[in-house]
Amino acid sequence: MSNRLLTVEHLSKSFPRRDGSRQEAVRDVSFQLEQGETLGIVGGSGSGKSTLARLVTRLIAPDAGRILLAGQDITRLKGRPLRQVQCRMQMVFQSPAGSFDPRQTLVHAVAEPLCCQGMPRRLAVGRARSLLEQCGLPADLADRRPGQVSGGQCQRAAIARALTIGPRLLVCDEATSALDATVQQQILDLLRQLRSQCGLAFLFICHDLAVVQQFCDRVLVLHGGRMVEDGPVAEVLAHPRNAYTRALIDAAW
Ligand SMILES: Nc1ncnc2c1ncn2[C@@H]1O[C@H](COP(=O)(O)OP(=O)(O)OP(=O)(O)O)[C@@H](O)[C@H]1O
Ligand SMILES: [Mg+2]
Repeated sequence: MSNRLLTVEHLSKSFPRRDGSRQEAVRDVSFQLEQGETLGIVGGSGSGKSTLARLVTRLIAPDAGRILLAGQDITRLKGRPLRQVQCRMQMVFQSPAGSFDPRQTLVHAVAEPLCCQGMPRRLAVGRARSLLEQCGLPADLADRRPGQVSGGQCQRAAIARALTIGPRLLVCDEATSALDATVQQQILDLLRQLRSQCGLAFLFICHDLAVVQQFCDRVLVLHGGRMVEDGPVAEVLAHPRNAYTRALIDAAW
């Protein structure tokens, strides 16, 4: 049996500009991801990283190309079937506080996806507490609101919430970029632990090549919406074939 989790073929997406022309955000991007594998996505600001993440998780629809999740073509899914496959792909963003309701306690925010699936509230809250604990959030912080914990603690809660319905793929869009170096390492350790415990695959968008080097198996370089290079991280960083990749590496080290 194949271990292929995700296949992306010739994906393109453009957005209308004010002057009537179109901004081609993602152009003809293809890649594959195996179960449990971590693919880094790097590139400058505006290179199409977040758009690619939003296409893969089908928060937006592509203009052209195909997305297969575990062999199922999800490119044109809508409504309930789309929501069902989206449960298997969760996103974690740069600013966790922004994706929580400021009035809701962390434990209730984490329990919510379970309640939506019909789990009785008391059970859902219990499961949320144990997920928060698994993600390293001290138990007494679970009843606080997002504004009452640190950025790193809030990111732990965001990761716990992303895990509630047992995804196979976690898409992290600069998920550690807003954190200081120590907290960033703690969150990376947590993600590593989840990767080995749950066999999660990652699309890991990150502008920090040193982080990509230590966390990812492979890396894909985007420039102007195009994939200019991809391959095993060590190989791409040691022997970049593309001039833009070389410039990125030179700027980082
Ligand atoms: N909803 C949208 N409407 C119009 N243009 C958009 C939209 N989303 C993205 N774009 C444009 O598409 C291009 C790619 O944007 P995207 O957010 O994917 O870049 P990015 O690589 O994530 O950048 P950053 O590192 O700054 O987050 C940019 O030129 C952006 O302005
Ligand atoms: Mg982005």
